[in-house]
Order: sequence, then structure tokens, then C-alpha cells
Amino acid sequence: MSIDNKITDQLKNKYEAIDQNVNTHLEGLLHSKPIDYWDYIQTDALLNLQIQRTVFPDEMVFLMYHQVNELLFKMILWEIDQVAKKEDITASFFETKIMRISRYFDVLTSSFTVMKDGMDVEQYNKFRHTLTPASGFQSAQYRKIEFASTELINLIDNRFRESIDRNTPFEHAFEHLYWQAAGKDYKTGKKTYTLTVFEEKYKDEFIRFVKFTNTHNLWSIFKKLPKDVREDKDLIKAMRHYDYTVNITWVMAHYNTANHYLNIGGKAVEATGGSEWVKYMHPKYQRRIFFPDLWSQQELDDWGKNV
Ligand code: HEM
Repeated sequence: MSIDNKITDQLKNKYEAIDQNVNTHLEGLLHSKPIDYWDYIQTDALLNLQIQRTVFPDEMVFLMYHQVNELLFKMILWEIDQVAKKEDITASFFETKIMRISRYFDVLTSSFTVMKDGMDVEQYNKFRHTLTPASGFQSAQYRKIEFASTELINLIDNRFRESIDRNTPFEHAFEHLYWQAAGKDYKTGKKTYTLTVFEEKYKDEFIRFVKFTNTHNLWSIFKKLPKDVREDKDLIKAMRHYDYTVNITWVMAHYNTANHYLNIGGKAVEATGGSEWVKYMHPKYQRRIFFPDLWSQQELDDWGKNV
């Protein structure tokens, strides 16, 4: 096979541009090792990350499924980031990204039966005690997906939305995010250990992240698109599908799983994160809606009620 002169010219140009000798690089190519699947995918590293805390085999299901979720969260954030940082967004670019993000969440939702039906209840209720006070509540990527999907006001606890506006400092708004309810005693204001350590680790990063996403989130970007794009039926359908999948379907799959394992003898037992989960996790109380203007008043009033 002969060498394509066009490619050698391009290589020469590429290295000349950075004051490098192309021959040295070609010699490096001569000695370099061909890539293998396992080197590229980093399978050894990846498959060494599953460290159980108990001897129960089903703890592995729990641990690995959470890891799979975090990988998919990363894929979602990867797509959202491209939308957030792009200038001059076209309708087709936006729609392509929304469809990708939505598909990842469909995978997360439809696979949640791995949690609900895939573990022995007795084993779960033993190994979970070794995980207290950790909770999925402390997933930073999940929180980032929320921040990057909508304006901060839509993530504020329903009870405080009236008192928070765009000029409220992020630090103040942060204290009133809907998920603070899971980690705070509202009478005393005291935070649980689960929430306290979560904030110690991530609060500064979240505040920095929100400073950008509060104007560069999917909802704000959509609202700035030209009118004909905003009225595109397929795009609206895709956005509503994403909103519903994240905020109703996933939440309900998660809630039903918690009920399956933690509602023992009809009585809710304490979750690892220590929240009043029965109330906190249900979409009708949470009322987290990313794209509120894309729903009718009736749909908003009924949010999470008929599921
Ligand atoms: C048997 C499986 C599971 C059960 C029983 C369960 C239970 C719970 C409970 C009770 C809470 C409320 C906070 C607390 O007190 O801990 C919670 C929060 C949370 N869990 Fe899970 N969970 C399960 C699996 C998962 C998985 C696979 C993920 C994916 C990463 C996940 C992500 C989350 C998130 C993001 C929250 C916070 C939700 C919010 O603020 O709306 N959970 N979970």
C-alpha cells in the first residue's frame, strides 16, 4: 500500500506549525504499541472499582448499578455541556442533543427494575446498614444535571418560590433548594450529617457551576431560540418527554423501589440518608419541573398526582 502524499503533507504542516520535527514523530509511530481494546476502555481499572462492604452477593448489584448510573449521568452532562457552551445554536443541533439526553434518561428509567426486582429484600435490608449515612442523595452529578437543565427558581422548594427571585444571591437560594428538605429539620434548621458532608465537599463547586448554568441551562437556552424553533412540535415533544422522564417516570421508579425495600409491614423504615423519604421523594410534593411553560395549567396542577 502506498503512502498518501496528502497525509504526509498534512502531518508535516501540523508539526511545523508547532516547531516540531515531523520525522521524530513518525519514528515515534514506528515504535509505538498498537492499541488494544482493554487499554483503550481501561477495563482493568474499571473492573477494579467494585469494592463491597459486606459478603452479600446482591450488594454487588446495588454497587454496580449505581456506578452504571454515574457513567450515564456523565454522558448526560457531556451533552448538556456542549449545548451550554455553543454559540449560534440551530434548531437541529438543539433537538439532536435533547434527544440524546432524553435517550440516556430513558435507559436510566427503564433499567431501574434492576434495583426494584433485582435484589433480595432480606439481603438489601442487611447490607444497607453498612452504608448509612451515605445516600444517592449525595450524587453530585445528579444535582448538576438538575442545575444544567433549568433555571434555579424551578429547583427552589415550592414553599419558598415566592420569596426568591433572580437577584437573590446564589448562597441564599442554595439554602432553599428543594432537596434541602431531605436533609434539614425545618423547625430547628439543623442539617443532617448526610447533607452537611455533602455540602462540605461540593457546595463551592455547585455555586461556581450554577453561576454559569443559571443562564446557560437547557431551559434558558431554549427560551432564547427563534420563535419558529420554539414552536417546533417535535422539539416541544422531546423537551416534554425529557422533563417527564426525569421528574416523574424516574422519580416514580425510584420511589417504588424505596417502597419495595423500605416499606416493611406497611411502615416506612428510616432510609440511609435519614430523610422523610415517603413525602420527600414523591413528585406531587417535590414538584420539580424543568420546563414549566411547556405544560398546561391543568398539567401543572396535576403534576405527579395521577402516577
Ligand atoms: C434499592 C435502591 C434504592 C433505594 C431503596 C433508594 C432510596 C432512596 C431514598 C430513601 C432517598 C431519600 C434520601 C435518603 O434519606 O436517603 C434517596 C435519594 C436519592 N437516591 Fe436513591 N435509592 C435507591 C437507588 C438509587 C439509585 C440506583 C440511584 C442512582 C444514582 C439513586 C439516586 C438517588 C438520588 C439522586 C437521590 C436524591 C433524590 C432527590 O433529591 O430527589 N438511588 N434514595
